[in-house]
Amino acid sequence: MDAISVIRTKRDRGELSHAQIDWVIDAYTRGEVADEQMSALAMAILLNGMNPGEISRWTDAMIRSGVRMDFSSLAQPTSDKHSTGGVGDKITLPLAPLVAACGAAVPQLSGRGLGHTGGTLDKLESIPGWRALLSNEEMLQVLRDAGAVICAAGDGLAPADKKLYALRDVTGTVEAIPLIASSIMSKKIAEGTGALVLDVKVGSGAFMKNLDDARELARTMVGLGTTAGVNTVALLTDMSTPLGLTAGNALEVRESVEVLAGGGPADVVELTLALAREMLAAAGVHGKDPADALRDGSAMDHWRRMIAAQGGDVDAPLPVAREQHVIPAPASGVLTTLDAYAVGVSAWRLGAGRARKEDPVQAGAGVEMHAKPGDTVVAGQPLLTLHTDTPERFEYAIEALTGGIEVSPAGTAFTPNPIVLDR
Ligand code: URA
Repeated sequence: MDAISVIRTKRDRGELSHAQIDWVIDAYTRGEVADEQMSALAMAILLNGMNPGEISRWTDAMIRSGVRMDFSSLAQPTSDKHSTGGVGDKITLPLAPLVAACGAAVPQLSGRGLGHTGGTLDKLESIPGWRALLSNEEMLQVLRDAGAVICAAGDGLAPADKKLYALRDVTGTVEAIPLIASSIMSKKIAEGTGALVLDVKVGSGAFMKNLDDARELARTMVGLGTTAGVNTVALLTDMSTPLGLTAGNALEVRESVEVLAGGGPADVVELTLALAREMLAAAGVHGKDPADALRDGSAMDHWRRMIAAQGGDVDAPLPVAREQHVIPAPASGVLTTLDAYAVGVSAWRLGAGRARKEDPVQAGAGVEMHAKPGDTVVAGQPLLTLHTDTPERFEYAIEALTGGIEVSPAGTAFTPNPIVLDR
């Protein structure tokens, strides 16, 4: 077998055989297939697609490139959630302890932010002392003690995906549904969860800008999970405007804790509860209503145990950025647009996100929103507060908001998108 014949097959719109897929993934992981050859193949896949049989074998080969985790020694069934990424998407933080409080174990391997979307690990690292890197034994111990764990995936899990995702990131080949689906599902299947709920985001702040593409991605991933024996469901959810009132690391931790305390913004609470109900049903756990677990403090109790078990000081004050800049409402009327992508890029430029994998992030940086689409605003009232340690970033962050905010005359009819668009 050789890389050139595999590339030619896909370049000429052919179907890759199982043997070709197994060989190319294995040889790429070992370094025998060069990065330039894999990028040519990824581009051929982006342009010419893969059929369901090819996607399934590709995913399987990526799983077999590394280790598989096993949670069968736990007393409770396992259930996990994966979001395709958005702005202000802090849902994992309240969701994992909430589902644990209702009786399912949540082994959540999470990632860091890249570009305008935030990363769960970056958010949690703003809690003093909290550690993302755990050994497999430590991960199991936190799961046993707190019922939920949120940590980084170890190097042994789907190493082919780790290498391929970094390559796709710099070769314009991220946006291919077969490659996104196999990348996400290889990690989730190797992680060993019994049930999985996919939160496929749709809108300006998401990978998938329209419902048709999101539906195809969701169907592809649900098919892969189901074939692998993971009870998988997907929700399509709105990402045209940020979730909640904050985008940024410590800012989003603060908002998540408000949700766990029984408060927080209505959209964050609604999506957290919708995903919790799906995760519990997929794991076959019935009995406790997640809304009760937010009210009675049991979700908060699991959060405190989970954070403390990973070294975090739950009572320490969260970092606050050194500088703030208020953006006033440009006119009086109804806020009709607060664009997710614009806010995400602004938070990123303030220092909440990174341009390259190795860049540090600022814990306190980000955007705080004082109104949501549909709210009535008065000219000059604070609309956004920008937070950063490095005030020279303000100008560039403000520029990102150009065209992302619209206030329409008072009385303009406005119907917000539902949070859950489809299931
Ligand atoms: N997230 C992943 O893990 N992989 C992709 O390809 C895209 C998003």
